[in-house]
Amino acid sequence: MAEKYSVPLLQAHQLIRETWGEIKPRTSIICGSGWGEIVDGLSPVSCISYEHFGLMGKTTVSGHKGNLWLAKPQGVEILIFQGRRHYYEGAGWAPVIFPALLTHELGVDNFLLTNAAGGIREDLHPGDLMVFTDHLNFMGSNPLIGQVPHPAIPRFPDQSEVYDSALRKKIHQAGNAGGQTIREGTYLALSGPAFETPAEIQAFARLGADAVGMSTVPEAMVANALGLKVGAISCISNLAAGRCSNALSHEDVKETSRLALPQMTQLLASLVPTL
Ligand code: HPA
Repeated sequence: MAEKYSVPLLQAHQLIRETWGEIKPRTSIICGSGWGEIVDGLSPVSCISYEHFGLMGKTTVSGHKGNLWLAKPQGVEILIFQGRRHYYEGAGWAPVIFPALLTHELGVDNFLLTNAAGGIREDLHPGDLMVFTDHLNFMGSNPLIGQVPHPAIPRFPDQSEVYDSALRKKIHQAGNAGGQTIREGTYLALSGPAFETPAEIQAFARLGADAVGMSTVPEAMVANALGLKVGAISCISNLAAGRCSNALSHEDVKETSRLALPQMTQLLASLVPTL
């Protein structure tokens, strides 16, 4: 295993076993901006701070708490990463991709990513939930540059289906069961931290992007390369730049995510037992 990751991964694995014993979760979830409270609706058991995981460090963005939770909705064990690290925080890729590596290390098969995103396609509105069909990586970098972080990752990973189609179907079924219509679309990822200009959004619309954000794609790429089943869901928190008259702010993004919390929690609660 790549030197940088092997010891922190083994230590994190050991700490998790010492804390929670021989748990066998089948799903791990990353909560994006404003989604930290999802944990409360999914029968949380106990948590470990990211600060105990060498490479994760401390989250620096408000709305991202920095705890790994064990939760048991309907008695089903899951892991929840409460808050994510972003490339724009400037600490490199290691803290961003660590949850994907740890999920694989623990033998967990399903990796669910949530985030907040700006809506580009005209029929996407604030509060809508959108499952990823695919992505466009415009982050200006790639988390797999350099030494591969894990021996299970090939030098040239296939990306024909990063987002597992069977998992996507289950997300729709879970939505339908709760009377929710889940939208679908292509997510375009940028490094951030500045929001986009209206001209950029117009260009991205022509390229086929339906929603835009500053996360998720690196974790999804690494998890896909590790052979995990990946699903990703955006809450459309705002209309993208130039599609709305008001200025964009992180506070508004968090507020809309907070309002959509019951829908996201309900979706995950009905989805998890089916995985
Ligand atoms: N742009 C980039 N990232 C975002 C946005 C946006 O409009 N909304 C939430 N995250």
